[in-house]
Amino acid sequence: MNSWLKWLPPSWAHGLAPVGLGIYTSFKKFPTREWRSFEFAGVRFPNPLGIPGGMDKNGTSLETWKSLGAGFIEVGTVTPYAQKGNPGTVIDRDWHEQLLWNKLGFPSHGSDDVFFNLKSQKSELKIPLFVNIGKNRTRPNEEAEVDYIYLADRFSEVADALVVNVSSPNTLGLRDLQKNLNSWLKKVIDASRGKPVLVKLSPDLSQEDLFSCLDQCEEAGCAGFILTNTTSQRPGGSKFPVEGGLSGKILTETSRNILKKSLLHLGPRKNHLLVVSVGGILTPEEALARLDLGADLVQTYSGLVFYGPQFFEDTYQREAQNRNIEQRVES
Ligand SMILES: Cc1cc2nc3c(=O)[nH]c(=O)nc-3n(C[C@H](O)[C@H](O)[C@H](O)COP(=O)(O)O)c2cc1C
Repeated sequence: MNSWLKWLPPSWAHGLAPVGLGIYTSFKKFPTREWRSFEFAGVRFPNPLGIPGGMDKNGTSLETWKSLGAGFIEVGTVTPYAQKGNPGTVIDRDWHEQLLWNKLGFPSHGSDDVFFNLKSQKSELKIPLFVNIGKNRTRPNEEAEVDYIYLADRFSEVADALVVNVSSPNTLGLRDLQKNLNSWLKKVIDASRGKPVLVKLSPDLSQEDLFSCLDQCEEAGCAGFILTNTTSQRPGGSKFPVEGGLSGKILTETSRNILKKSLLHLGPRKNHLLVVSVGGILTPEEALARLDLGADLVQTYSGLVFYGPQFFEDTYQREAQNRNIEQRVES
């Protein structure tokens, strides 16, 4: 299935993937498998492998993601008002190096449209739904909280959790919001009507800044973290422009290390937090390895592109195989 994406120009592949996957899942549906199921804040996850932000920015294809076997879905990033993405080439990839590049810049149908989409599908969904929120590019950073508070309040009705995106490299200055989260995050949490609020962080933070973000979020009362968004780093000899973010293989080590460091730093505080690992999970084995390291949930974008839509089912099968081997060794 992923092979047809390979032959399409990157921007077409991105636009057509949900349509193609929709057609694919109308012929081939995977069940929602129960493995490593767990509950957090009253929300039950049948399995811990989900769809990350950016796959379905407007929440139009929830049934498709569910039919791939996803344990939860994150929609967005949604902005308050509809806005177009950045001009020019905004998507590219390197199939050989398993890299995706984008500088989409939050193209969004806006909160009214997305809210309607989610409300009309939510009752049938039966797996947790996260809504990833971001400010409009015209909203200055000093007023960013206005957008986040509005979106948290609006989507708390349909979301099982909200994700505050302050880590996209594609909205000018957005990542600076990671510097003083304690000045406004609490207000977003208060607006979320008791729904858990997670913060999605950048892989490019220094260790000191990463730890400071984790502490500020935890003190503000946030429910957890999504680690990580795309990177501004480039591999040697990279053909990609310096602006924009890279996903895929370049993030495997980085995102795994950030998960390890963050868990160590949080220590016992981790027990009441939800930690989601994303970035460079290109194989079922890597998804399981992140869970074994201590992530509560994992997501993959690049894995769906480079490995294909059977990623979710194969991860379940690999988990089942491992369990069988463990049981045989024990008995
Ligand atoms: C084309 C594209 C669009 C994305 N859009 C968003 C987005 O709107 N919001 C967000 O939080 N992350 C977005 N991401 C980042 C992914 O959710 C994920 O954090 C990142 O790609 C790393 O995971 P991966 O290596 O599995 O791709 C996007 C990624 C790609 C490739």
